[in-house]
Amino acid sequence: MSALLELKDITIRFGGLVAVDGISLEVKEGNVVALIGPNGAGKSTVFNVVTGIYTPTSGKVLFRGEDITKLKPYAITDRGIARTFQNIRLFKNLSVLENVKIGCHCRGRAGIFGALCRYSGVRGEEKAFVDKSLEAMGVVDLTGKKEELAKNLSYGEQRRLEIARALASEPVLLLLDEPAAGMNPQEKQTLMQMVQRISGMGITVFLVEHDMKFVMSLSDRVNVLDYGRKIASGTPSEVQRDTTVIAAYLGKEVV
Ligand SMILES: Nc1ncnc2c1ncn2[C@@H]1O[C@H](COP(=O)(O)OP(=O)(O)O)[C@@H](O)[C@H]1O
Ligand SMILES: [Mg+2]
Repeated sequence: MSALLELKDITIRFGGLVAVDGISLEVKEGNVVALIGPNGAGKSTVFNVVTGIYTPTSGKVLFRGEDITKLKPYAITDRGIARTFQNIRLFKNLSVLENVKIGCHCRGRAGIFGALCRYSGVRGEEKAFVDKSLEAMGVVDLTGKKEELAKNLSYGEQRRLEIARALASEPVLLLLDEPAAGMNPQEKQTLMQMVQRISGMGITVFLVEHDMKFVMSLSDRVNVLDYGRKIASGTPSEVQRDTTVIAAYLGKEVV
């Protein structure tokens, strides 16, 4: 299978700090690919580059062969890349359904306000948004909570709601930044099944996560960062056996 996403020699400096130092990697279509490494290794910065929040100091990001390095975030979303953030970003006082509808806006003519507006001239589009949102909510088992305010959901449900919002933009590639952070084992188990479901829908998944059981059981390939550098990449079992990785990160967590 061909590479859906390619990072070519990406470097990002913030003043004197080199947050990402010459990283190249590939995410193949249909795969679940993980990016792991200690806190501060540069993982979220890589996601911020892929989604157009940061422009790298040097290097290129290719998506389906197209150079997207300098595109604005909305243009990148428009091409089929969606994400969740490390810290939950929801509209706490909007309902679950309204939060997910916001994710639809990039596919519609009405824009973000139209997505929330029930009585302008965008009724046909509104119906399509609702249908799409319900479908996305179904993937993460939140359909039954559509009228709940986001703030009343459990922590695990809020994280799933973010995934539903990302799915509502109909991504080809979904980036998940520490989706299992703060979840209890039961919630992690549920989330793992949902990521498998998303992958089964044909969506390519690029994942940052610290929970090694989660990473190793879901991923086709794992890339390891340390101090902004890629120190290893391979299948989960290859990476788990890599002595550099064990020294830098895995320690005794994974045997
Ligand atoms: N906007 C920014 N300005 C300055 N430094 C930043 C910025 N974003 C990230 N960094 C720094 O870059 C490094 C990598 O951060 P990050 O990508 O968030 O790490 P990770 O997600 O692997 O924990 C850290 O030292 C962090 O403080
Ligand atoms: Mg991070």
